[in-house]
Amino acid sequence: METSTAPLPHEPRPAGPASVDGLTDAQGRSIRYLRVSLTDRCNFKCTYCSPAETESPQGLLTRAELARLFRLFAGLGVRRIRLTGGEPTLRRDLIEIVADAAATPGVEDVALTTNGHRLDELVEPLRAAGLGALNVSLDTLDPARLPGVSGRAARLDRILAGIDAAAGRFRSLKLNTVVMRGVNEDECGALVRHAWARGALPRFIEQMPFAGGEVVPLAEVRRRLEADGFTLTPDPWRGWGPARHLLGRDRDGREGLIGLIGAMTENFCEDCNRARVAADGGFQACLGGHDRVPLRELLRAGAPDETLAEAVRGGLWRKAPRHQMDEAGLVLLPMRGLGG
Ligand code: GTP
Ligand code: 5AD
Ligand code: SF4
Repeated sequence: METSTAPLPHEPRPAGPASVDGLTDAQGRSIRYLRVSLTDRCNFKCTYCSPAETESPQGLLTRAELARLFRLFAGLGVRRIRLTGGEPTLRRDLIEIVADAAATPGVEDVALTTNGHRLDELVEPLRAAGLGALNVSLDTLDPARLPGVSGRAARLDRILAGIDAAAGRFRSLKLNTVVMRGVNEDECGALVRHAWARGALPRFIEQMPFAGGEVVPLAEVRRRLEADGFTLTPDPWRGWGPARHLLGRDRDGREGLIGLIGAMTENFCEDCNRARVAADGGFQACLGGHDRVPLRELLRAGAPDETLAEAVRGGLWRKAPRHQMDEAGLVLLPMRGLGG
C-alpha cells in the first residue's frame, strides 16, 4: 500500500508574550496578525460574499499609505500580514505591496488569500517579492457547479492551473472551501484528495451570514469524510489563523492534515490574535463587529504615528470578547472590502 504524508505547513504560531508596548485588546489578547484588504472589488461574485461593483468612492489606500501602515503595525507588534480583498490580485501594484510588506522590519511572514483566477501568472512574481504563504479559495472541483457559486466569470481550469503552479512554491499552501448546503457538501473527500496530492492543506469553512445562506456544521463535514473512508483524529497543530485541525487517513493509507474553520458552531474567538484594515482604510478589530476606525482619513489629514496608534488602540479597546454572528437578526457590515 502506498503511503504518503502531506507535509505540515511550516508556520507555527508565534510563541511567548507580546512586547510590553505591543497591541492588546480589551480582553488582553495580543494582536500579532493583521489582515489588510487591498480592494473591495472582485472579478467573481460568490454567493456567500457580496463584492463591490465599483471601488470605494474615496479611493483605496495607496501603496505608500499601505507601507506606512505596515510599518506602524509592525512597530506595535504585528508579525504576520495577510493581504486579502475583494480580490487582491486586481491591484496592479500587488507585487510591489507584497515586497513592501516583506521588507517591513518586524514582519516575519506575508500571506495572501486569492480566488486563484490570476494566480498562474503571479506565482513566480509573488514568490520573488517574498510571499511566504498562500490561501486559495476552491469551493468545487466540478466546472458545471462553479458558475452557480462564483458567477459566470469564474473558470475552474484557471483556478486549478494556478493551484498547480503554486504547489511546492510557497512555504504554505492552503485551499479554502466554504461548505454550502445543496452545492458542494458532497465534495469534501474529493477536495481533501485534490489538496493532499499537491502538498496543500484542505480547509472547510462554515459559512458566515454576510449574504445569508445555511450553515453546514463542521460536524457534518466530519461525518461525510468518515463516510467517504477517512479516519479522522484531532491534531494539535495550530497555524496563525482560527483553523483547528484533524489528521486524516484515507482508504489507501494516505495521511495529511485537514483544517476546519468553525466560524459559526465553534467559538474560536478566545485566542483571537487578529485585526483587520478594510480596503477603505477602516480599522476593524472584529470581523463580526461594527466598530470602524477611519485610518485613511487620519492618514490623509497628516496624523503622526502616535495618533494612528492611539486610534488603533481605541478600536481594540472596544473589541468584544467574541463575535455575535450567530445572533438572530444581526446585520453584519458587508464582507466586501473587509477580506474575512
Ligand atoms: P491562515 O493564517 O492561513 O490560517 O489563514 P486564515 O484562515 O486566517 O485566512 P483566510 O483568508 O484563508 O480565511 C479563511 C476563513 O477564515 C475565511 O472564511 C475568513 O473569513 C475566516 N477568518 C479569518 N480570520 C477570522 C476571524 O478573526 N474571525 C472569523 N470569524 N473568521 C475569520
Ligand atoms: N463565510 C465564510 N467564509 C467566507 N469567505 C468569503 N465569504 C465567506 C462567508 N460568508 C471566505 C472565502 C475566502 C476567504 C477570504 O473568506 O472563501 O477563502
Ligand atoms: Fe470574490 Fe472572494 Fe468574495 Fe468570491 S468570496 S466574490 S472570490 S471576494
